[in-house]
Amino acid sequence: MHPYPGYFSMARPRRMRRDDFSRRLMREHQLSCNDLIQPVFVLEGKERREPVPSMPGVKRLSIDLLLREAEACARLGVPAMALFPVTPPEAKSEDAAEAFNPEGLAQRAVRALKQAVPELGVITDVALDPFTTHGQDGLIDETGYVMNDETVEVLIQQALSHAEAGADVVAPSDMMDGRIGAIREALEEAGHIHTRILAYSAKYASSFYGPFRDAVGSAANLGAGNKYTYQMDPANSDEALREVALDLEEGADMVMIKPGLPYLDIVRRVKESFGAPTFVYQVSGEYAMLKAAAQNGWLDERACVLEALTSMKRAGADGILTYYARQVAEWIKE
Ligand code: PBG
Repeated sequence: MHPYPGYFSMARPRRMRRDDFSRRLMREHQLSCNDLIQPVFVLEGKERREPVPSMPGVKRLSIDLLLREAEACARLGVPAMALFPVTPPEAKSEDAAEAFNPEGLAQRAVRALKQAVPELGVITDVALDPFTTHGQDGLIDETGYVMNDETVEVLIQQALSHAEAGADVVAPSDMMDGRIGAIREALEEAGHIHTRILAYSAKYASSFYGPFRDAVGSAANLGAGNKYTYQMDPANSDEALREVALDLEEGADMVMIKPGLPYLDIVRRVKESFGAPTFVYQVSGEYAMLKAAAQNGWLDERACVLEALTSMKRAGADGILTYYARQVAEWIKE
């Protein structure tokens, strides 16, 4: 019956795939609302809701509307939100002083959120790009080079102002050397011993951040500039392990790989090498790709989003920042 003995083995993987019950039993990874972090863009003003053209479905929200969004996320079981302020042009400067203004937009948003929805974790972005006139994540010298140690001093002030406002987690996304240790030390000294650090450890110099820079309004400031002297080269992988090792040694509680889908090999290597809480960011460009294809009727949005996020879990991610967080939590609840 068979062309030669042993051609068909007794092992038949398809037996287990035959029925829904056995498929469910052998399923290794399951996306849950506990895996999700919702990034949000925060605007000045009241009752303001602005669409982001390159991210259909995503809106910049003023703090009052942000609170409604936060309540919805908490109700759906999304554990945390990550805040990204949209700084008015007049508040931007060469020295990014607005970054650590105790009355800044991010700081006010944190206070309002922790008061209105205390059970929702609040994560803040520590980096200077929303506040600099040149759109770089740090302070620049006369040649335009982003200076490391001078920048770290400002990042410390920024992180302290976020912790002071009540942020549960500060998330340095700037890729300066030594900033995790410096921020940890400053937090301890100021008594913020419970403030966690989510380090953007392996943050690549990715072109998939384009829509985000539109959303926070830093694209025009950055112009033709790039971030190659501090964000990582997409061609590298060992370097990501060195970055993660340093951040963990310096006191990071969680590490992150960014972007997501094109970098799942890095997620896998990081998780296997360190076993630390590992996060991945499905970035704005990934969102835009899925959304655009879905809007054209070329992809089934729900199926593809769930598949992409489940793949991140499979690669080893403990949690995912995704603009789809609230939507996914709604899908899961159904
Ligand atoms: C800025 C920052 C960026 C993102 C998060 N924090 C952009 C950048 O580094 O230029 C990107 C997020 C996204 O694309 O969704 N420090």
